[in-house]
Amino acid sequence: MTPPSIFDPHSTPAHVIVDYTTLVLAVCGVIFAIVTGLIVYSIVRFRARPDDDGREPPQVYGSNRIELAWTIIPVLIVIVLGLTTARTILALQKNVPPPGSLAVTAIGHQWWWEFHYPEYGITTANELHIPVSDPQAPRPTFFDLKSDDVIHSFWVPQLSGKTDLIPNRENHLWVEPRTPGVYVGQCAEFCGTQHANMLLRVVVQPPEEFEAWVRAQQKPAAVAESASLGRAIFERTACVNCHTVRGTPADGRFGPDLTHLMSRTTLGAGVAPNDLPTLREWVAHPDSLKPGVRMPAMQLESEQIDHVVDYLVTLE
Ligand code: CUA
Repeated sequence: MTPPSIFDPHSTPAHVIVDYTTLVLAVCGVIFAIVTGLIVYSIVRFRARPDDDGREPPQVYGSNRIELAWTIIPVLIVIVLGLTTARTILALQKNVPPPGSLAVTAIGHQWWWEFHYPEYGITTANELHIPVSDPQAPRPTFFDLKSDDVIHSFWVPQLSGKTDLIPNRENHLWVEPRTPGVYVGQCAEFCGTQHANMLLRVVVQPPEEFEAWVRAQQKPAAVAESASLGRAIFERTACVNCHTVRGTPADGRFGPDLTHLMSRTTLGAGVAPNDLPTLREWVAHPDSLKPGVRMPAMQLESEQIDHVVDYLVTLE
């Protein structure tokens, strides 16, 4: 996992964005250097000296040449930047899926991400898996971005720019990652108390690995006899109103799909690692890990929580 810097792009839109950013920074840098240089030069060269006689130097009014220069040069800069901006926007914005693309629907919730893969019939949360795109056989990922409540923004700096998820509207975004790896991102639009903890991970995998992940996700939930007590508790508490465990009576839609909970490395949209003690703490007091989280503490007995956690860890 590398730091999420836009200057370390690993996908086509991010490459285009960094090229554009570099050009704008370079142009602005040159302007900054010239203006600052002239100011510093004037301050030093024309500073007050002890032998000044106090009279004003000769005043010069009007110079067609200088006025033309400071009009034409900025106009040219604006034209160049304007055309480059238009070209970049045209290259980045696609409202129809490119050929051969993988479709993913991303839905923003307070404060987690829901991901659907319509062609595979799978649903996951907060940790997105997508294939590497080989230039010989391009396999871009094309997102439909939606929101379930307020405005969120999908941002994985190394893969693409930000795009908002807006209620009652569908936005689009595509990525074409070239290198496998785990790329971190986060919600980039203030969406409530836990906005800062609305994190996501994108696992970019070679095609075979991605297909294997898809096949594992397509399986219904594992059934472990050892966890039947925990499962019974889970299914008779309000857990099932919000969470789906495919192949069981749990079919809630407000919270993340838990069918393959243990295939994810984090809990609560990236706030904590998905290990046994943290998972237990999450079930017992979700608020302690993520204050304001929509998931309530179910007020179960300590022993019941142990059983529920025993059941959850079977959901591989
Ligand atoms: Cu969702 Cu900020």
